[in-house]
Amino acid sequence: MNQKLLLTFLFAYYLCRMDQLIAKIENYKKEIAASVVHTSDDLEAFRIKYLGTKGLVKSIMSEMKNVPADQKKAAGQLLNDFKILVESHFETLSAGISSHSQKSIQFIDYTLPGDTIPLGSRHPINIIQNKIISIFQRLGFSVAEGPEIEDDWHNFSALNLPENHPARDMQDTFYISQNPDWLLRTHTSSVQIREMEKGILPLRIICPGRVYRNETISARAHCFFHQVEGLYIAEQVSFADLKQTLYFFVKEMFGEDIKVRFRPSYFPFTEPSAEMDISCLICEGKGCNVCKKTGWVEILGCGMVHPKVLENCGIDSEKYTGFAFGMGIERITMLKYQVKDLRLFSENDARFLQQFTSAL
Ligand code: DAH
Repeated sequence: MNQKLLLTFLFAYYLCRMDQLIAKIENYKKEIAASVVHTSDDLEAFRIKYLGTKGLVKSIMSEMKNVPADQKKAAGQLLNDFKILVESHFETLSAGISSHSQKSIQFIDYTLPGDTIPLGSRHPINIIQNKIISIFQRLGFSVAEGPEIEDDWHNFSALNLPENHPARDMQDTFYISQNPDWLLRTHTSSVQIREMEKGILPLRIICPGRVYRNETISARAHCFFHQVEGLYIAEQVSFADLKQTLYFFVKEMFGEDIKVRFRPSYFPFTEPSAEMDISCLICEGKGCNVCKKTGWVEILGCGMVHPKVLENCGIDSEKYTGFAFGMGIERITMLKYQVKDLRLFSENDARFLQQFTSAL
């Protein structure tokens, strides 16, 4: 083969290599121009594919070694232009992504109201219980609590209600089948006993809590409800102290204009015993269904602690005297808020409960 022919052949071969390179680059350019990125993940994928350490730009650059010396300049220029093009396309794409995310921020309407967080409200029984507690706390009473599952002694016997005493029938009791001595307390008077047994005198307590009775549920009766028991034991406590304490309570609870009366009554654990009525809040004493046309509603039982009860708790009844009282919280709440049906308190109807918003 003559020399001229060889040179022509080599020239054609190198030209072919250059052509291939140019064709490759043109293809990549088209591919790049068509690439779309929506998210920053797409953008990163683009960067890795074209500009990464194992990316296309790097790999095409490595083809420089196959280019003949006299073509290297032109090829270098070509590859460099390609690299700049890819880099500037990457910049454009990344600017598009960040302006897109800025745009979505601008679309937030700051004038829209926030999500409403529904506020809870206190249960009316809870509101009134807290109010009762705070009134008595101002008179120096402190809060004492006891168990809802009681034994016969604390609920009955120590309160001067021995077995077979007819007064036990005043309260229909839930007994606990596993142990005939156990029951659900029928009143908070059991807490009196527990506190007196501790032997720390003088004693001035109020005992709020839930009590249970085997009653048919109706608008006026329930198988569980709440009471607050009060007890004051010291030397020379008199019935006058009891009346004064309860007058104060009633005026604080229902206002100055309320009228009060005491009626003699009977409780085995107090002697003498009384029940206290207040003038009807609904008809202001004129007579209505709530007060059964009498103008008065009974709100609590009270009396001087029976000496036997003091002795049952190891307290010297010659030295100490005391008064006690007990009231139903539901009754006070119904009068205060004019609620006509006791069942509303335990039905958890939000429409009822939302009406009580006191912060107390
Ligand atoms: N324990 C009584 C009841 O549940 C209420 C009561 C009346 C409590 C007179 C007392 C009291 O402390 O002295 O019906």
